Amino acid sequence: MRTLTRVILMLACFLSGLAMCGGAYAAGAPLPAHSYNGLALTPPMGFNNWAHYECKLNEQLFVDTANTLVSTGLAKLGYRYVNIDDCWMEMQRDAAGELVPNPKLFPHGMRWLGDYLHSKGLKFGIYEDAGYMTCQKAPGMYGHIEQDVRTFASWGVDYLKLDYCYAPQDQYPGKNFSQVAQIVYTRVSEALHHSGRDIVFSCSPPAYVFGKPGEFAEVMRWIGSVCNLWRTDDDIYAAWKSVVANYAGNVGLAKYAFPGGWNDADMLEVGNPGMSLTEQQSQFSLWAMMASPLLISTDVAKLSPAALKILSNADVIAVDQDPLGRQASIVKQIGQVDILSRPLADGDHAVALFNKGERPEKISVNIMAIGLRPGRYQLENLWSKQVSETRAMISVEIPAHGVGLYRVSAAH
Ligand code: GAL
Repeated sequence: MRTLTRVILMLACFLSGLAMCGGAYAAGAPLPAHSYNGLALTPPMGFNNWAHYECKLNEQLFVDTANTLVSTGLAKLGYRYVNIDDCWMEMQRDAAGELVPNPKLFPHGMRWLGDYLHSKGLKFGIYEDAGYMTCQKAPGMYGHIEQDVRTFASWGVDYLKLDYCYAPQDQYPGKNFSQVAQIVYTRVSEALHHSGRDIVFSCSPPAYVFGKPGEFAEVMRWIGSVCNLWRTDDDIYAAWKSVVANYAGNVGLAKYAFPGGWNDADMLEVGNPGMSLTEQQSQFSLWAMMASPLLISTDVAKLSPAALKILSNADVIAVDQDPLGRQASIVKQIGQVDILSRPLADGDHAVALFNKGERPEKISVNIMAIGLRPGRYQLENLWSKQVSETRAMISVEIPAHGVGLYRVSAAH
């Protein structure tokens, strides 16, 4: 698969005369329609410690999380990546220039942890930075790209989140942000490709030009040809304001998403204090509509039954993981309510009615507004599981900050 994809890309490169050989797309070239490396054909699901624990991490946290993902059934539902974020390493490389995991935090080392996760049927993710330093000032990969990728592969890494703090802009005089990021991320992408392992590549450059439309668009032109997913917004935190901000930043980006190339609206806050259950359910619904990765960031062992139920809703997960890989767009806005729709692989549509307001709203929307032809449709409420039929309208009362989520299929 990987080789075939590469051959097709090379052929496209040759036929179009664009200078994109070697993995990178020329600025201005359309995004590829398929994963650049054949990986992450649906948005990655799993765990990342950052949003909840930040630097308060150690080996035990990941071992416990892995065990709990398995025992709660979350792993079976698809939450397989267990990703370590910043602060896992010593602040200096060793004499050979190798990254050194902090021995107090990870006494058995990373190879051991990778083996442990794999023995549980899970995948191992790690964090680094493409610049001089990580955001917490640990050594970055710049100047050590191939060496570090070899190290990660030897540890059994399956997923690399590569941040972009302390970018090496000064090494490339005359080049702009996007051009330097493209050079560096392409080089990492190539190294990953030759690592002998399938490593999902999560990239951060778009988030660093969030709110700067010209620069953002320039980065988005090449990102899908070297990365499997990319952060689009600021760091999320456990407050409704933050969730809505990341939704707003990500919801208009449907044209950039495809199977193997996903807009990443950042981690899930489900299970964390600071958000009501309605808000947690809304985030989960919206992230599924946006085909965003579903990365839990909470104490999984302490999830309340209600929060666990949100994360375990297989019908909502199926929307996120739909193989067609089409991110939802807003098709209509009525007052404070956004109506989103996305087509699904089996011909159904997923429809969300999102009440951003502070009061409950009664909303009626015609099925034609969500891109459906006149006809008889079955509406399955993916939270209440109620099934109804309609010929024209979807009508629903949505609480403040709530989302009504439906699977709409032709009735027989
Ligand atoms: C930020 C990133 C966060 C986390 C943090 C670690 O730049 O967006 O998700 O990785 O760095 O320092």
